[in-house]
Formats: sequence, C-alpha cells, structure tokens
Amino acid sequence: MDTEERSRRAVPIAPPRRTRITLSPELTVRDQRSRLRTILVVSGKGGVGKSTVSVNLAAALAARGRATALVDADIYGASVPRMLNAFEKPLTFGSRLVPVERHGVKLMSLGLFFAEDAPLVVRGPIMHNTVRQLLEEVSWGEPDYLIVDLPPGTGDVALSVAETVPGSAMIVVTTPQLVASKVAIRAAKMASVGELRPIGVVENMSYFVTPQGERVEIFGSGGGDELAEELGVPLLVRVPLEAAVRQAGDEGNPVVVQFPDSPAGQAFVTLAEQVERLEPPPSKKR
Ligand SMILES: Nc1ncnc2c1ncn2[C@@H]1O[C@H](COP(=O)(O)OP(=O)(O)OP(=O)(O)O)[C@@H](O)[C@H]1O
Ligand SMILES: [Mg+2]
Repeated sequence: MDTEERSRRAVPIAPPRRTRITLSPELTVRDQRSRLRTILVVSGKGGVGKSTVSVNLAAALAARGRATALVDADIYGASVPRMLNAFEKPLTFGSRLVPVERHGVKLMSLGLFFAEDAPLVVRGPIMHNTVRQLLEEVSWGEPDYLIVDLPPGTGDVALSVAETVPGSAMIVVTTPQLVASKVAIRAAKMASVGELRPIGVVENMSYFVTPQGERVEIFGSGGGDELAEELGVPLLVRVPLEAAVRQAGDEGNPVVVQFPDSPAGQAFVTLAEQVERLEPPPSKKR
C-alpha cells in the first residue's frame, strides 16, 4: 500500500471519549423545594428554647426514620454545634459543603467553621449570602425534613431565611409568661415576609415537677394557649423545665436521645409525631 492509499484509507481518530462520572443525586434545597418539608423554628424573644426545640425535633424525626437536615441559621450566636457536640470543620465536595452528621441528623452551621469565642463580623449582603449558602449550597442528599433554627425575633437574619425558603412551615416557641399578642405580632411579621405558614406553637419551660411530684408553674401559665389562639394554630406540646434538658444540651446529646423516657424527651417525641401529622413526609419513589 503506497502512502497515498494509506492516507485515503486512514480512519480519522475519534477524539478521546470523555469519561462521565455520574454522582448520586445531590439535590439542593431549591431543586427539591416541592418535595421537602421545611420548618422554621422561631420566637419573639431570645432564650426561650428555639435551639433546644430544633435539635430535639430533628433528632426525634431522624430516630423515627425520617431523613432529616438541620440548619443553624443563628449566624451570630450559633449554639447548635455545642448541643450536638459537633466541632469538625465541614468538607467540601465540588462547590457544595458536606454536612456534619449526628444522631442521624445532617447539620450545617456557621459555628462549625469558627471557634466558639471568635468574634464574627458578617454584614449586610454577605450575611444574606451566608444564610443562602448554609441552606442551599450543601450536599443534603434527599431529606424529608429540613429544620431551621432561627435567631430570636424578626431581625435581618430571620428575614433573610424567610426570603430564601419561602412558603415554609413555621413553629413558634414561647414560654408560658410571654405576652402572647407581642409574640404573635412578630410571628406575623416573619410570616408575611416569606409567605410562611405558622403550623403550631411549642410552650417550652411550661412547668417543673418537684422530686415530690408536685407540678409547679414557675413561669406562670397560659402563654402557649393564648398564642396558639392568636395565631389560629394548635398548641403542639408543652415541654417541662427539666435539668436533663440543659444537661443533655451542654453535653452535646439531645435529651430525646440521652433521656428518651424523661418527660421532656417524651414531649419532643410527641412534637415529632405532631409535625409528621401536620406536614406529612413526601412520598418517595424508591
Ligand atoms: N425545657 C427546658 N428545661 C431546661 N432547660 C432548658 C429547657 N429549654 C431550654 N433550656 C435551656 O435554656 C437555655 C436556652 O435555650 P436555647 O439556647 O435553646 O434557647 P434559644 O431560644 O435558642 O436562645 P437564643 O434566642 O439565644 O438563640 C439553654 O441552656 C437550654 O439548655
Ligand atoms: Mg438559639
């Protein structure tokens, strides 16, 4: 075969085949918004137990077999990492953050990236972007529930969250003595920003049972019922004031995991049942 014939017969070399790596579907919150139950945990005032409720609700849902994600959206006062004893810095996978996992709950918090006592300056547009990243640029997999622990009140961070996950359900945490109408006004403000749907009230620190079995209403009574009435939603559960709740929180094991049979542990199981009833998990094609 002469050179001319060889060149005529030459088969053009095909360009190298690109290897396609197919990854398991890692949908963002935005991708699967219609399939995900997002629940914001809010309050009118600080220190009423939002983070405690968020962590225990998430752990209780996970224990009931629900794929559960938890976002600590308290940018300036992240307390969830301590409550779950989670301090390792999250890895990244491509452009997404990989959540840290505890008790079957996938967690993302700005607190995972900084020492607890580090002063944090996150302002204006950066803050909004940080909130969005914590919610959306995370490899969540396919959770049934996304629980979001908010800072108190209706400040910029809370409003940013409401804008990022519009249409979410909202649980309002209160103590028995707070003036229901004031809490309701703040909850309504939150709700109006992101077209949020209040689904119920949790009355935390409701009562204390003495070692002699006497029930004492340390913070008064009625706040939860009144707030539920103002908002037109059910009072989902009353969580007692219990040393075990604080202790478990400080030790990084939610009370619902460490002391599931305690009255507070039981209250959080009831809360998870109520949430499943009001916001049934999406049916999945398996
Ligand atoms: N039912 C309870 N019994 C005993 N201690 C509780 C109970 N609920 C919450 N606590 C404790 O009260 C403190 C405040 O609770 P938590 O941090 O959950 O409130 P918060 O509303 O998230 O506060 P912040 O507004 O600062 O974010 C914590 O030390 C927590 O362990
Ligand atoms: Mg908190």
